[in-house]
Amino acid sequence: MKIEFAAAGTATGAIAAAVYDNDALSDAAAELDTATGGAVQRAISASRFTGKAGQTLEIVAPSGIDASRIVLFGLGEKDKRTASVLEKAGAAVVQKLLTGGETAVTLRLDGETDAEGAARAGLGARLAAYRYDQFRTKLKDDQKPSLATVIITAGDVDAAKAAWASWGAVADGVDLARDVTNLPPNVLNPETYAKKIEGMAEHGLEIEIIDEAKMMELGMHALLGVGQGSEFESKIAIMKWSGGPEGEAPLLFVGKGLTFDSGGISLKPGANMDEMRGDMGGSAAVVGLMRALAGRKAGVNAIGIVGLVENMPDGNAQRPGDIVTSMSGQTIEILNTDAEGRLVLADVLWYAQDRFKPKLIIDLATLTGAMLIALGNTRAGIFTNSDEIAERLFAAGTDSDEPVWRLPLGPDYEKHIETKNADIRNIGEGRLAGSISAAEFLKCFVNDRPWCHIDIAGTAMGGMNSKEDPRQPSWGTGWGVRILDRFVRDHYEA
Ligand code: BES
Ligand code: MN
Ligand code: ZN
Repeated sequence: MKIEFAAAGTATGAIAAAVYDNDALSDAAAELDTATGGAVQRAISASRFTGKAGQTLEIVAPSGIDASRIVLFGLGEKDKRTASVLEKAGAAVVQKLLTGGETAVTLRLDGETDAEGAARAGLGARLAAYRYDQFRTKLKDDQKPSLATVIITAGDVDAAKAAWASWGAVADGVDLARDVTNLPPNVLNPETYAKKIEGMAEHGLEIEIIDEAKMMELGMHALLGVGQGSEFESKIAIMKWSGGPEGEAPLLFVGKGLTFDSGGISLKPGANMDEMRGDMGGSAAVVGLMRALAGRKAGVNAIGIVGLVENMPDGNAQRPGDIVTSMSGQTIEILNTDAEGRLVLADVLWYAQDRFKPKLIIDLATLTGAMLIALGNTRAGIFTNSDEIAERLFAAGTDSDEPVWRLPLGPDYEKHIETKNADIRNIGEGRLAGSISAAEFLKCFVNDRPWCHIDIAGTAMGGMNSKEDPRQPSWGTGWGVRILDRFVRDHYEA
């Protein structure tokens, strides 16, 4: 989907115009009403469209104007119109027209918002246009997208283009995160995933891949144990963006990248096991964020690091009862081979905090099914030793519509991962506080630096089920790119 910006008065393709709550027409909508002899008002009267945020109404082949159709979009109450409302409006118009035969639409936003708002409508349009069609060889013509261009009119076109240079990069990041999450696990395995990340060098990122021989040298037996039943070699990929002052300590983003999680010898039940192709959602968010930061040339030093592993049952697979020594030297008793994400992150976290001496660490992982039980699929859980990070992430989540909620850590939960046989064990106390004991496990590997774990088991997958939000047409949601981009923008750039 191409997003372009043009001056007021431009009219290519379908024309989309805003209506506020209680049928209050924007200037553009009023203009169209006059030109069509009142067709706009008549259509509104004949329907349940009232201008509420997110609503749309299509008027096909109106007389009096050249355009093949008018799409009215609601912006809700004028004084409550946030960037989020504009994103959803751009998305709703695209959703309406995407496969309908129209090839272009002009979104009349001049006079309604500033350059930043125009760009945010563009972001919404891009997010709604996402498709995962690459394995659909028999799509019928009317199932294929027809809409190729969205033109957004703005008062100051140059300023809108400049704002888009930044928000378009965020859209690129979300799309990439969705793509890797959606890809099947035979296509995206640790080896092909690492290759794909190497390709990100073209965007100005410095890439480094760590292979199993090197991990063995480093003593990463927690991570290696998880991958030892797989035919694919485990990899760690590092993405470095140096947009900030030279020598300034970087922000560190760490992602769980299980390209498939069968559970291993503690095999998962068969129903919906295919969904564990999305168990690399944390790494997808990190990869997408790094793409966004590089794309918009963010003024920050950031490192992304992801552990890419496949968890499979095999004659050589890890067993329940095994005790492994992590890179940190701490020993871990494996009591369930399906609690593998924390084992991968243990070594990646330790290695990265030790090597990069970051200002702060944020890890993302589809870590526990218990997260879905606690917070459902609209909000991710955060677990942190820093009140400042908690506050900043909460605000960034609210502003980006990727909301989070803080859960506790502490001595009462540290007990849940104690064992007589090793330093710690990889599961908690039965069904009690499963997401928290997993976070406590990770805490053992961050060495008291400012750190936050985000459990995205509920939010990384199943996105197309959220029908209320037209920005989310994809199973792999790309969750995490927008909140983290916002977090970086608001606090860590000069
Ligand atoms: N990848 C899963 C968690 C998960 C479940 C993510 C559902 C998304 C949707 C993780 O590796 C896992 O299997 N966790 C176990 C931990 C348990 C064995 C302590 C779980 O949540 O059941
Ligand atoms: Mn698992
Ligand atoms: Zn997993």
